[in-house]
Amino acid sequence: MHFVADPATSQNPYEYYEDGALLVGSDGKVKAIGPASTIISSNYQAQVIDYSGRLIMPGFIDSHVHYPQTEMIGSFGQQLLEWLNTYTFPTEKQFSDKTYAKGVAKTFLNELMRNGTTTALVFGTVHPQSVDALFEEAQTRNMRIIAGKVMMDRNAPSWLLDTPATSYADSKALIQRWHKNGRALYAVTPRFAPTSTAAQLTEAGRLLQEYPDVYMHTHLSENKGEIAWVQELFPSSNGYLDVYNSFGLSRKRSVYAHGVHLRDDEFASLAQTQSAVAFCPTSNLFLGSGLFDLQKAEDYGVHVGLGTDVGAGTSFSALQTMNEAYKVIQLHKAYAEDPSTREPLTALKAYYLATLGAAKALDLDNKIGSFKVGNEADFIVVNPNATDLLKFRMQRATSIVDKLFVLQTLGDDRAIEKTYLMGKRQTVTTGTTGGYNYD
Ligand code: GUN
Ligand code: FE
Repeated sequence: MHFVADPATSQNPYEYYEDGALLVGSDGKVKAIGPASTIISSNYQAQVIDYSGRLIMPGFIDSHVHYPQTEMIGSFGQQLLEWLNTYTFPTEKQFSDKTYAKGVAKTFLNELMRNGTTTALVFGTVHPQSVDALFEEAQTRNMRIIAGKVMMDRNAPSWLLDTPATSYADSKALIQRWHKNGRALYAVTPRFAPTSTAAQLTEAGRLLQEYPDVYMHTHLSENKGEIAWVQELFPSSNGYLDVYNSFGLSRKRSVYAHGVHLRDDEFASLAQTQSAVAFCPTSNLFLGSGLFDLQKAEDYGVHVGLGTDVGAGTSFSALQTMNEAYKVIQLHKAYAEDPSTREPLTALKAYYLATLGAAKALDLDNKIGSFKVGNEADFIVVNPNATDLLKFRMQRATSIVDKLFVLQTLGDDRAIEKTYLMGKRQTVTTGTTGGYNYD
């Protein structure tokens, strides 16, 4: 099962074969999909692996996540700004030690594999070695990862600050070392407007001018206190997004996490610049940030991908992230002035946001996110009957769409039976950090 178009606008957004086959070439790319009988009979020399009763779909794409925050998921009691000071900054301090960073990178990538996430757009820390550690670990798995060194030169503890000059030089060296090195891609990563001076955002804009095909990745309009603070720090700006726009940071391959409190003109501006938003429901609920207006983003034509935002997000599971996204949209309807204008989030749209939709948001739909011939064969084998409750409930799920909805509601890493990268099966050994083997 995979998507070929956005379910919000297309009558036939997906392809599904009850008894289907995915043919992968020796180059790790998709050669064909279709009915199993046709594919197998016309490729008699191919090795056949039988996953009857399972669902094969493209690997999930996490459009926003912080690998250094893996060890602080579920930190109690605070909203964004206090949470950063109390938990996040002390945790990120440890990543000056590359050996430490490597250990966490291994655990992080194991969690992605376990949850069927085959690509992620990832925050490192301010330390360039944190990004080397992640890319090196991703490279041993041949995994498509987009990541960057955090740029932050104010409003955080001194041990977590760089300067405009060092952030430019360190980011540039990382771009030269990693961007398009194997499957790695680089993202220029100012943390968010409050932790960068105008001088540093100028340097971020300069990097994007010099390297137009790298990504830009930051946070935007997550929390009301944060938005007020941005207005104090940049008093002449016309709102939060305008700060980034004025430094040339909004364009294709620019990804803004959250966008919970965007104004209408800001949605219009994001669409106009072809920027994307990462919708991070578990994080927005956990930190009490607010409810992202997916329907409005869609109306304005803004690209959206689904993000976990671990460690403010509470799960690495794309399925559980869809589960919470559905509930956020339910609350939108409950609080709408005119509830009749609000539609529930369909299962098709939810899976789209974690696969082809995210790939489009990341300008990677010619490489990942669907089983288009020639795409990289990153895929997962899902067991819709992985738990007793799933099995029990699935008996009443008749259509593929029903099954997908039950799976996102009840499923998690237990339902992800196998994860493949470029046609190679990955295995993760439970209970060991870095206990990772190729099959
Ligand atoms: N805004 C700035 N930094 C962060 C972070 O680490 N997590 C989240 N959720 N928002 C941020
Ligand atoms: Fe985040």
